[in-house]
Amino acid sequence: MSTFRTLDDLGDVSGKVALVRVDLNLPMRDGDVTDATRIRAAAPTIRDLTEKGAKVLLLAHFGRPKGERSSTMSLSMVVGAVEKVIGKEVMFVPEIAGDVVKQAVGILRPGDVAILENSRFWKGEEKNDPEFARAIAANGDFYVNDAFSAAHRAHATTEGLARLLPAYAGRSMQAELEALDKALGNPEKPVAAIVGGAKVSSKLDVLKHLVSQVDHLIIGGGMANTFLAAKGVDVGKSLCEHDLTDTANEILETADKAGCTVHLPYDVVVAKEFASNPASLRTCNVHEVAADEMILDVGPAAVEALGDVLKTCRTLVWNGPMGAFETEPFDAATVALARIAAALSKEGTLISVAGGGDTVAALNHAGVAEDFSYISTAGGAFLEWMEGKELPGVAALAK
Ligand code: 3PG
Repeated sequence: MSTFRTLDDLGDVSGKVALVRVDLNLPMRDGDVTDATRIRAAAPTIRDLTEKGAKVLLLAHFGRPKGERSSTMSLSMVVGAVEKVIGKEVMFVPEIAGDVVKQAVGILRPGDVAILENSRFWKGEEKNDPEFARAIAANGDFYVNDAFSAAHRAHATTEGLARLLPAYAGRSMQAELEALDKALGNPEKPVAAIVGGAKVSSKLDVLKHLVSQVDHLIIGGGMANTFLAAKGVDVGKSLCEHDLTDTANEILETADKAGCTVHLPYDVVVAKEFASNPASLRTCNVHEVAADEMILDVGPAAVEALGDVLKTCRTLVWNGPMGAFETEPFDAATVALARIAAALSKEGTLISVAGGGDTVAALNHAGVAEDFSYISTAGGAFLEWMEGKELPGVAALAK
């Protein structure tokens, strides 16, 4: 039983005004949306509400305009992309509250959709100002939050509104919360976590939290170098936060006490320069990295062993690549491990949940994103969830 209301709990909403928080913080180039994943994620909620005859007012932020209007951050830029995904005309309203929105609501017919202007053009948004939230709420009958990826922000449109109007989780928020619950809330054990990426410093809280939650913690990417250095391995020229080796050792000790096995690579792919297929490329044991070499990926023997670990697990949470995956051949470990996890998920022995910007790009690159049990559209929110933090936007939806 979910602890939040969903669209299934809505009564008759025909002609009612739905204030729907979505995430339209989309990647853009030269005025065009380059990836519509977040629009597609919001589409089932928009469709559901329009089919029920609600007038749908979409609320969202774009960029970080810091409470000022900015022509380069107007949500008018994304109207065409939203229309394309939902297959419906969308009205743009250059305000978020007041008479202009009221008039727009008067013009909209049941089942119509409008996008209100970038919520961060007003200072009250990030301050979660109750006055600002009340002014927005005045034009709506109920509130739907479908923006898990913005739920780590306690802002007026992500948190404040849920306290003023009957509040519901949208379809994408619901799917996200259900998947995350299966991954770390009430997971099937044993649970593995893969944490990669460049720096330990950006994921310290994630690592600290995970060691008490999971049975296997697989560390890859540049951050593995800091752990290797903490264990006395000479990592040569590798990216490494030497000032964090004590912290890395503390994490390893906590893991040990909690019964969490930490897996670090024991063979690695190294090169003297970071370039595509460099002449100096070789694979070696972690203890054989030369002073002028840098570790750029996890080695094939370690990947095989990690695959065997995943075969013993029922649940996997993945954030961050195993190597410098954007440059070949340093994508090999990420791709190989992603394929193993995808195959196990397809066979039904593993529940796999992945999230975070780079992670989704890496899984798409491996061509296996579809086979994962769940891929989160969130970046920062996914990380805060992995840190075990309560997300204000989610907490405000609680029944
Ligand atoms: C995101 O893009 O991760 C979310 O929309 C949150 O954006 P923010 O980091 O600017 O709050």
